[in-house]
Amino acid sequence: MPKHQLYIETVGCQMNVLDSEMLVASLRKEDYEITDHLEQADTILFNTCSVREQAENKVYSALGRLRQHKQENPDKVVGVIGCMAQKDQKLIFDRAPYVDLVVGPGQLQKVPEIIREVRKGNRNQMAVSLGRKEGSNTLIKRSHETFDPLRDPQMRPTPSQAYLRIQIGCDKFCTYCIVPSVRGPEQGRAPEEILSEAKTLAEQGCLEITLVGQTVNSYRYNDGNKTTTLADLLEELHKIEGIRRLKFVTNYPKDMSDHLLEVVRDYPKVSPYLHVPLQSGSNEVLKRMKRGYTVEDYHDMMERIHATIPGAAVSSDFIVGFCGETEEEFQRSVEAVKKYRFKNSFIFKYSERPGTKGANLWEDDIPHVVKQERNRILLETQSQISEELNLAFLGKTVDILVEGPSKSQQRKSEDATSEIIQLTGRTHCDRIVLFEGNRRLIDQILPVSIYDTTPYSLFGAIETHEYPSALHSLTL
Ligand code: 5AD
Ligand code: SF4
Repeated sequence: MPKHQLYIETVGCQMNVLDSEMLVASLRKEDYEITDHLEQADTILFNTCSVREQAENKVYSALGRLRQHKQENPDKVVGVIGCMAQKDQKLIFDRAPYVDLVVGPGQLQKVPEIIREVRKGNRNQMAVSLGRKEGSNTLIKRSHETFDPLRDPQMRPTPSQAYLRIQIGCDKFCTYCIVPSVRGPEQGRAPEEILSEAKTLAEQGCLEITLVGQTVNSYRYNDGNKTTTLADLLEELHKIEGIRRLKFVTNYPKDMSDHLLEVVRDYPKVSPYLHVPLQSGSNEVLKRMKRGYTVEDYHDMMERIHATIPGAAVSSDFIVGFCGETEEEFQRSVEAVKKYRFKNSFIFKYSERPGTKGANLWEDDIPHVVKQERNRILLETQSQISEELNLAFLGKTVDILVEGPSKSQQRKSEDATSEIIQLTGRTHCDRIVLFEGNRRLIDQILPVSIYDTTPYSLFGAIETHEYPSALHSLTL
């Protein structure tokens, strides 16, 4: 029986999912085991997100609910890690004094040691990185360390899929965004490290690697002689045996090079799927957001994508109700969704983030109800498009990587022992496919023929292969 029981809750982006995987892997080396039951844990960690206020409120409420439990069990270690830890720092102790540790995303390597300190009785431990104005660029960069010590297939949502970090931080400073201040300066990881980690993943049976970075296509690494780009990395990763699919998120529109698009076209393992957030269809809003491109620039990029990669699936993010967004400006976003026919879009209501340029310069003046209505309209516009695009798959056969039981299957009672269940998987172009099949098909890539569609998913049936009659007679 392992010595410690760890309960960890993760919110936020792929970076946080990856950070949690790494942290759990390093704690498992110290005799920790994961539990899904908070009451049974002796260590409780919240890996947090700061991109929108709502995500933070949820963590503070969860901490509030923990107050009594911690009073009754003072030896339990409670920690807040990740972006909110970096942003709020001591404020977390003020709001929840029973929290034992606050650790930013650039300091996660210290967590095991800090937990040991807490167990010795030294509570209220804090480890955070330097702020963007708190020292020389070199010192600030050094204080934001990438945390990629170990890969642990048991900790991934599925062993056949993995995220691989190629870059940390961001230097774009979009006026609404907290990421550059909590995740620090943009830093690319060395190509050798990335390749060796990818080989480890392949050896662990991973079929699909998704490279992650805040602006993954801005990746550049210079070793003094040579500069490596994302396109170069993909060419190298493509050679690794066992890896069948390569994806990368999230892209920045201005850095979508022709070389990268050609690699997506020419290397079959690279998924023809690009997530390139537009954020707004209005040039005035884009300027206030300081996104660094115009709608015309985005349009040129889309033309290059479609001219280079026929059938490419493109998805986007939008923010509605950004400071001063007029009805006309919002309508430009609706038009953009219709014009570019995204595979899907993630739509967010603007959430003012203290300390960002947007919060300092402008009032968060769009009423919540207006944001909500714009959110609804944009989502509806996108759903219509997604439905039309999905309809084109009817009757087609697609290869899907089977991820596991579908969400509705997971909601069914645990004791449903049936081997045949509803499974979910994704196509090479990142579409979700639901189908009936045996559990043992999980983690395989299989052909599925599509017989029904909705705006959000495709429904299919596994293509069965007829055995040659000679084999039949062998009664295998
Ligand atoms: N409010 C709302 N949405 C935001 N995003 C980033 N910052 C904010 C904010 N302050 C959205 C952007 C980004 C996605 C990850 O989150 O659309 O692409
Ligand atoms: Fe935030 Fe802009 Fe950087 Fe994306 S590119 S992480 S939106 S600052």
